[in-house]
Amino acid sequence: MGGGRASPLPNSLRARTTLAVGVLALIFLSLIGAAVNYLVLDRVQQRVSQESMQAAAVWMQTLQPGDPRQPVPRTRIDLLQLVDSRGRVVTASAAAAGRPALSTIMPQVDHPEQDRVECSAPGKCIMVTALRVPSLMAAQLWRGEPHFIYAGMVEPPILATKTLEISTAAAIVLLTGLVAGGNWWLAGRTLRPVAAIRERMSEITVRDLSLRVPTPPGRTEYTLLIGTINQTLARLEETVREQRRFAATTSHELRTPIAGLRTNLEEALLYPDDVDPRSAIRAALSTTERLELIVDDLLVLARLRAGEPAVRERIDLGALVREEAATRSGQVRMHVRAAPDVRVLGSRIQLIRVLDNLLANARRHADHEVEVTAERAGGLAVVTVTDDGDGIAAADRERVFERFVRLEDGRRREQGGSGLGLTISRDIAHAHNGTLRIEDSPRGARFVLRLPAVYDVQQAPDGTRPPPAAHQKAPPPPPAGHGVQARVGSRPPADHK
Ligand SMILES: Nc1ncnc2c1ncn2[C@@H]1O[C@H](COP(=O)(O)OP(=O)(O)O)[C@@H](O)[C@H]1O
Ligand SMILES: [Mg+2]
Repeated sequence: MGGGRASPLPNSLRARTTLAVGVLALIFLSLIGAAVNYLVLDRVQQRVSQESMQAAAVWMQTLQPGDPRQPVPRTRIDLLQLVDSRGRVVTASAAAAGRPALSTIMPQVDHPEQDRVECSAPGKCIMVTALRVPSLMAAQLWRGEPHFIYAGMVEPPILATKTLEISTAAAIVLLTGLVAGGNWWLAGRTLRPVAAIRERMSEITVRDLSLRVPTPPGRTEYTLLIGTINQTLARLEETVREQRRFAATTSHELRTPIAGLRTNLEEALLYPDDVDPRSAIRAALSTTERLELIVDDLLVLARLRAGEPAVRERIDLGALVREEAATRSGQVRMHVRAAPDVRVLGSRIQLIRVLDNLLANARRHADHEVEVTAERAGGLAVVTVTDDGDGIAAADRERVFERFVRLEDGRRREQGGSGLGLTISRDIAHAHNGTLRIEDSPRGARFVLRLPAVYDVQQAPDGTRPPPAAHQKAPPPPPAGHGVQARVGSRPPADHK
């Protein structure tokens, strides 16, 4: 079930980035707008206040005892009034004449100037500066009675109306819209390849794994992404093809013994007088054993290819070779030459499987004898199994490692295994970061297994330091379907020469 809380954000990346960019732009532009607004208005106010103060001071200098002349404003500060201590207007400029006192503030001696905005009604405001006439002057002119000069002007429209704020807000909204719109367009453009990739991928999923995603022009992150997607597709296609081949060859291999079994049983039922039931049962049993063998090997192969981790331990390969050779007796003689201290790190059960198969094959194909060696060469533990049989033609030396490939005539085929032995053996060698190949020999076939050797701490081969990996030469990658995921080293193994 769909767990997790649904995010309040929109699902589209385009919408998300646009939302984020829009919100950021709005915050940023609002801060800038507010700052600009504040600075502009503050400056206008200061200018008016300065001019008012100047006008008041200039007028004050002209005051004469008993001669309060009407002032003539020379600047935009057109409202000038002289007011006594009871708030009565003594004299005023033409614009301010006939009005009541512009303000009621009467600055104290220690604070002789004050600014104020006086509003008679909303939108009808006057900016006033009040100046207290100095005491000395008041003493001369009005026998000490404090007088005040009010100087001001009708609030300029930029302060009186909200025009600046409104136009700033409009600009912010417009700019935010532009930024968000730009982002929407850009994100759409940038994300367009994603839609194309998605469309193509769904087509590939439904229709045909062999299709590939076309790379858009230019070199962007998409180029890399598409490269990786196409690699994945190629790998997937190969895996699916390999699985199909696997299923086909496997069912084919299983069908033959099953058909034989069926014929035997039918004959026994149809011709009870001609067929000996005991021998029919024995034949059926042997076929069943063969089927079991194949199925067991298939299971081993499947596990190996699934990369199931195996327990790794230090193994004395020489001792293991001796033990495995000793369990086999018969007409074919076994010569074992195993050096001491040929050690590897690996899965005992898997390595026994490899040796078991190589020895069984060698014995089956040998005329008289089989030679087995285990030694260390450079950083490698090398096991060779050589027989004196007919050998394997150069053309078949890779083929025999394929599933169910058996070369020999009917006589040997009878006693043969599932035809999976060498496939499994090579997979195990790969899983150990090693190789398994067929090499030239004077007679018969020679199988060579190479695995990275491990050393005791004090001991190094020939006084040199142990090389890091089994493969000295950089090998090409293994054929598809032969690789096993669980590799130890960094380089892929190669069994081809
Ligand atoms: N020592 C050998 N000499 C000649 N041919 C061999 C030898 N070992 C393997 N082969 C060939 O490789 C084939 C595949 O071997 P393998 O995968 O072990 O399957 P199986 O042993 O079940 O036949 C064998 O059927 C045989 O034809
Ligand atoms: Mg075999």
